[in-house]
Amino acid sequence: MKNAFTGVEVFRYNPETDKEPWWRSYRLPRENYTVLGALQYIQEHLDPTLAFRYSCRYGRCGLCAVLVNNNPALACQTNLQDGMKIAPLAKLPVLKDLVIERRTILEALQKHALYPEMGIEECKGLQEPLHEPEEAALLRGCLECFSCLSSCPRYDFPGKGFAGPYFFVRLAQLHLDPRDRQDRFLQGREMGIEQCRECAKKCRCPAGIGIFENAIKLFLQHDNERL
Ligand code: FES
Repeated sequence: MKNAFTGVEVFRYNPETDKEPWWRSYRLPRENYTVLGALQYIQEHLDPTLAFRYSCRYGRCGLCAVLVNNNPALACQTNLQDGMKIAPLAKLPVLKDLVIERRTILEALQKHALYPEMGIEECKGLQEPLHEPEEAALLRGCLECFSCLSSCPRYDFPGKGFAGPYFFVRLAQLHLDPRDRQDRFLQGREMGIEQCRECAKKCRCPAGIGIFENAIKLFLQHDNERL
């Protein structure tokens, strides 16, 4: 008889009670679950202590990003398969089970001043339609899921000396924003973007943003031309 269950392994870690992370296996009735659906089933029916994050359930908020078989993915957009291993995003501190710490990264946006710096003229024009270059549209889908940081070979939390791909996407968005007055090329160098030259473009984006092609390359090409 065909196996009526799907087996998954889930990373477990409670820093308050566990010395080390551990894996727990669960068996779910065989149905067409997404990974998020499976986690919800586990929490509701098998283990209420399992912690994970989500909000929209349709690929918009980025909060459900986890590692599925070692690759970053949105849990709500990934179909469950037998034998999958589900873990928190790598390289980021784990608060509990699949929940990573997001606050430090979001606070670093402020520290790096990654918001548009506008003069009075630009502020006056805020009611007008924004005329952005076409490339800006390629970066608009960032969900702030931090999968790119998790998959970047260079990134090391909290990103000292090398801010990491999530911040470089923000930097490119600002560079392409016609209202922004800051020299984002200089800022990119200060944030370590040069180190992306040696990388094999390994950072991954579940939303399909070409992080190297459409963001980082703008900065590296500019610096090539300067030399
Ligand atoms: S729950 Fe919002 S992207 Fe998955």
